[in-house]
Amino acid sequence: MEKRDELYAGKAKSVYRTDDPDRLILHFRDDTSAFDGKKKEALARKGMVNNKFNAFIMGKLEAAGIPTHFDGLLSDTECVVKKLDMIPVECVVRNLAAGGLVRRLGVEEGMTLNPPTFELFLKNDEKGDPMINESLAETFGWATPEQLARMKALTFQVNDVLKQLFLDGGMLLVDYKLEFGMFNGEIVLGDEFSPDGCRLWDEKTREKLDKDRFRQGLGGVIEAYEEVGRRLGIVFD
Ligand code: C5P
Repeated sequence: MEKRDELYAGKAKSVYRTDDPDRLILHFRDDTSAFDGKKKEALARKGMVNNKFNAFIMGKLEAAGIPTHFDGLLSDTECVVKKLDMIPVECVVRNLAAGGLVRRLGVEEGMTLNPPTFELFLKNDEKGDPMINESLAETFGWATPEQLARMKALTFQVNDVLKQLFLDGGMLLVDYKLEFGMFNGEIVLGDEFSPDGCRLWDEKTREKLDKDRFRQGLGGVIEAYEEVGRRLGIVFD
C-alpha cells in the first residue's frame, strides 16, 4: 500500500490517502490536546501507545461482531482503515458520572448510572461540540433515524464487550465516545478507541488512568495509558 498526500490533520491524528480509494492511513501523533485545543503538549510514546491500544480494542470489537473500519497495523504509529463517509455525531455512553455530566447536572462524580446514559454531540470544533438530540440530528440532516438507532445499538454493544474486558483487568469503564461512518451502505465504527477518548478508573482505588490525567495536570499520562495496556496484555515494544 502506498501512502499518498495528507487528507486531514486532527488534534492527535493525521489522515493520509493511499493508492486504494477505499483505504486511508491513520497516523497517531504524540500531540495531546484538551479543552478544544486550548491545552496542548506532545507526550513521548503516545502515538505508538494509542495506535497499538486502538488496534487491540478494534480487534476485540470485530471479534464480538461489531463492524469497525480497522484493517491492520502498518507501523508503530500508523494503521490502515476503511475510508468511511463519517457521520458528524459523537455517541457517548456513561456507566459512572464524571466530566461533562457532573458539570452539567451537578451530580456526584463516581455515582453509578443505571441504566447507563446515552448522549449525542455534534462534531463541530468551532461550536465546541454542542450536545444535540435525535430530533435535531434528523431535522438538520446530520444522521437519519435509522442511522441513529443503529449507532445507539452498536454503542451499547461496545459497552457490553469493553466493560467486561476492562473489568477483567481490574478497571472500570466510566464513559467513552464513539464515532461512526458509512461503508458500502453499512454503519461502521470509525475513529479510535484509546485512553484519549474514554475514562478508565482503577476498580479498587478509582485512580484515573485516562486523559483526565492530562486535562487535570495529574502527570504520569503515558505511564497510565501503558499500565492500562499492560493489564489488558498489550505489548507496546
Ligand atoms: O467531556 P465528557 O464528560 O462529555 O466526555 C465523555 C467521554 O467522551 C469522555 O471519555 C471523553 O474523553 C470523551 N470525549 C471525547 N471527545 C470529545 C468529547 C468527549 O473523546 N470531543
